[in-house]
Amino acid sequence: MRILVLGSGAREHAIILALQSEEAGHEIFAAPGNAGIARDATIVDLDANSPGAVTDHANEHAIDLVVIGPEAPLVAGVADALRERGIPVFGPGKAAAQLEGSKAFAKRIMEAAGVPTGRAVHAYTRAEVEAAIDEFGAPHVVKADGLAAGKGVIVTEDREAALAHADAYLPAGPVLVEEFLSGPEVSLFFLSDGDHVLPLSPAQDFKRLRDGDAGPNTGGMGAYSPLPWLGEHVPAQAVEGESADPEDAFVDLVTREIAEPVIHQLDSEGTPFIGLLYAGLILTPQGVKVIEFNARFGDPETQVVLPRLIDPLSELLLAAASGHLEDHARPAFAGAAAVTVVLASEGYPEAPVTGRPLSGLDAASAVDGVHLAHAATAVAGDGLVATGGRVLNVVGLGTTFTEARDRAYRALAEIGLEGGQYRTDIAARVTD
Ligand code: AMP
Ligand code: GLY
Repeated sequence: MRILVLGSGAREHAIILALQSEEAGHEIFAAPGNAGIARDATIVDLDANSPGAVTDHANEHAIDLVVIGPEAPLVAGVADALRERGIPVFGPGKAAAQLEGSKAFAKRIMEAAGVPTGRAVHAYTRAEVEAAIDEFGAPHVVKADGLAAGKGVIVTEDREAALAHADAYLPAGPVLVEEFLSGPEVSLFFLSDGDHVLPLSPAQDFKRLRDGDAGPNTGGMGAYSPLPWLGEHVPAQAVEGESADPEDAFVDLVTREIAEPVIHQLDSEGTPFIGLLYAGLILTPQGVKVIEFNARFGDPETQVVLPRLIDPLSELLLAAASGHLEDHARPAFAGAAAVTVVLASEGYPEAPVTGRPLSGLDAASAVDGVHLAHAATAVAGDGLVATGGRVLNVVGLGTTFTEARDRAYRALAEIGLEGGQYRTDIAARVTD
């Protein structure tokens, strides 16, 4: 197949590496890509956020499938334009993508579909924010209603900090004050063709900047998959399911009670969701609840989920894009442990310092079981420089988490980036 992947991050690099590893052999194109992606795909000069430009390019170059990585092209209507021209595209249209872009839309869909989520209040004024904060009590959760790259959310014990966060976003529209949900978080991805869904394997993301979940929220500083501890947290509802394996029981439960109802609700409203439904879940003592949905693959979770996928990714994405997921069995995953650690620039997430040289990447990739997924790199002279906040992902695979983690951190030690930051505790508490 001739496949065009839109986006420039480590998630897109991971998608391209998975496509490239298939026996079938594909011609893979990427826009805009980055220096790492350029080694594994042909970069095309194209505005990935322009519906007209992407559609014309796909038509002129006989592209068989377009895969949309980030949310920006979705929100810009790129998938709608491609679909109108009959070009298979993996990614929802603008209307369905609101599931990620508008927390108010997501809450309404969840309510209509009977999907469990935290109680929330839309507050339009300072007084409404204060009333909601005091009703729910501490810890306080305040969210901007719109795309904020994971940075629009504050979770804090400090009432004043919660109010200050609300003050910062209120001029732009209502903010969401939410009930605090406690428990381990799980990211679970579903492929959807608008009607049928197929789950991928669960992963866990580390959202805070520093070790021990300290520091500000980020786009994600690391991830691992699978989740060997899921069995201890699977709520009683899941155990009634058919499957004896705790991960399967959990995935069955979320498929049945969360993903399918949401996909059917969107379909019944005339906004079918074709693409990747990302369910951000919290396993509360009262059962599994949704914290958020995203309309795209998660970053960095994709970097640990796709290397474990056994089935050809291209066939699954094309089946979703063309309404044929029903013909496919649930995707199978290798038992291997996967750990990814993100290397970020100094100053990330507030004000990343860019343009600094990277060294040691070849030595890092040479570590057994390790590969790199580039997030923000560019060629400068005969080397590479960092061009953004999250620079690259070191992915370690192993037969155990101890092995996967050791490999990832051994590889990271080879890499040089002045002021570079990374967490040293990714998957550290996972026991084999
Ligand atoms: P979101 O952008 O909605 O995914 O929020 C980012 C992060 O904030 C989540 O991954 C959680 O760690 C945390 N968070 C969001 N909402 C809640 C909540 N209601 N209760 C507890 N933690 C939350
Ligand atoms: N890992 C969080 C996200 O992709 O939104």
